[in-house]
Amino acid sequence: MSERSCLSIILAAGEGTRMKSDLPKVLHPVAGLPMAAHVLGAARAAGSGALALVVGHGAETVSETLKSHAAGCRTFVQAERLGTAHAVLAARDAIADGFDDILVMFGDTPLIEAEALAEARQGLADGAAVVVMGFRTDKPAGYGRLVEQCGELVAIREDRDCSAAERAITFCNGGLMAIDGARALGLLDAVGNDNAKGEYYLTDIVEIARAQGLRVVAAEVAFENVLGINNRAELAEAEAIWQTRRRRRMLLDGVSMTAPETVFFAHDTVIGRDTAIEPHVVFGPGVRIGDRVRVRGFSHIEGATIADGAEVGPFARLRPGADLGAGAKVGNFCEVKAAEIGPGAKVNHLTYIGDATIGAKANIGAGTITCNYNGFTKDRTEIGAEAFIGSNSSLVAPVSIGAGAYVASGSVIVADVPDDALAFGRAPQTVKEGRASKLKARYQAEKQRRAAEKAAKDRAARG
Ligand code: UD1
Ligand code: CA
Repeated sequence: MSERSCLSIILAAGEGTRMKSDLPKVLHPVAGLPMAAHVLGAARAAGSGALALVVGHGAETVSETLKSHAAGCRTFVQAERLGTAHAVLAARDAIADGFDDILVMFGDTPLIEAEALAEARQGLADGAAVVVMGFRTDKPAGYGRLVEQCGELVAIREDRDCSAAERAITFCNGGLMAIDGARALGLLDAVGNDNAKGEYYLTDIVEIARAQGLRVVAAEVAFENVLGINNRAELAEAEAIWQTRRRRRMLLDGVSMTAPETVFFAHDTVIGRDTAIEPHVVFGPGVRIGDRVRVRGFSHIEGATIADGAEVGPFARLRPGADLGAGAKVGNFCEVKAAEIGPGAKVNHLTYIGDATIGAKANIGAGTITCNYNGFTKDRTEIGAEAFIGSNSSLVAPVSIGAGAYVASGSVIVADVPDDALAFGRAPQTVKEGRASKLKARYQAEKQRRAAEKAAKDRAARG
């Protein structure tokens, strides 16, 4: 990255009426992260040391939410929405601090990539005063057209103002721009509002710069980079593009997927080499997975850490705080929350493990439940290394089971079990020889008695 300093201004004042939502538009998530946070992240990745966010609608919610995603980001309020140039000027104080490059971005274009921004910055380094990010489309209607001459951009013509010849142009304004920091305020202050809508249009700086003899160019970027989200259908489209990109990156980084189109990642999913993800797996935020892990089909994983060589699923649910050690196994229809499963431990079938610590190589039988909630407080269950919990046991927390201990199947464990102890927490079994046929005969007689009684009642009713 160049030595040039850079300020990114992200416009996020719009209301986003077409989202039909109580949540401000730029906070709607893509891959579990607010759209505008994607934009802030791309700005940072493109070497932008300073960030300014222009907020308006839902100002407080927007700036509070985004603060945690972009430390040091300054926020500016655009009280009245008088156009994109007016919005940029809301961040006048930040611009006045003096930067080599200014990037103007929209908070509702979540798929912008750092490489595209870096290319626009390169245009400034090469001597342009303004670089406009454009894209090609065979459906240009509605977009501003980029009018070029001899490799330079001469104007951005909004759809409604185009001549017939200009309307045929398929190179369109993506809306995002890079502006020479030293000239930015001069250019922006020269923008007027003498147009049909009475707004201050950022696009006007193209002709203003040209009139001052400055060089203006367009940088072509892939369409999705500037895909603006206005409604939930477009949001879903952005999500789909994001997922396609991320699946490809995961595959190229050494993660196997037989049906990648059925696997959904979050913005921060980390997966190691030679890990295989089977079809229909969903990752929520906060997941870290090591090498050689196998995540089997239909599993749902969120806020979990999975160490090398572990195996999860099919049909497993790992909730926040699930922490699986190397080679651990969590099998079908198991739920794990806020629990460490030690290296090589097995939780294979139909089990709930919550607020627990399970030692290395322990074996948790089918149907085991940690009873971690008494309706008021949550308590922990500790299980030592190599302990064996028999099937269908209830472990009533707080309780601890020692290393190497053995809990008999069907136990309800309410008191601590020391290391190496054998615990039975169930009623003793009684066996009565020859009593099965007697019992059956008794039930059979009762059945016949009820049938006869019903027949008599029916006869009486019929008179
Ligand atoms: C803009 C471009 C158009 C381009 C299109 C690409 C102008 C005049 N037109 O049109 O050439 O093809 O983007 O999508 O720029 N905003 C504010 N405050 C304001 C006005 C806007 O924060 O006062 C924000 C909006 O919330 C939005 C962004 O700026 O995120 C763009 O504004 P919008 O009105 O959507 O511009 P378009 O009509 O899409
Ligand atoms: Ca728009």
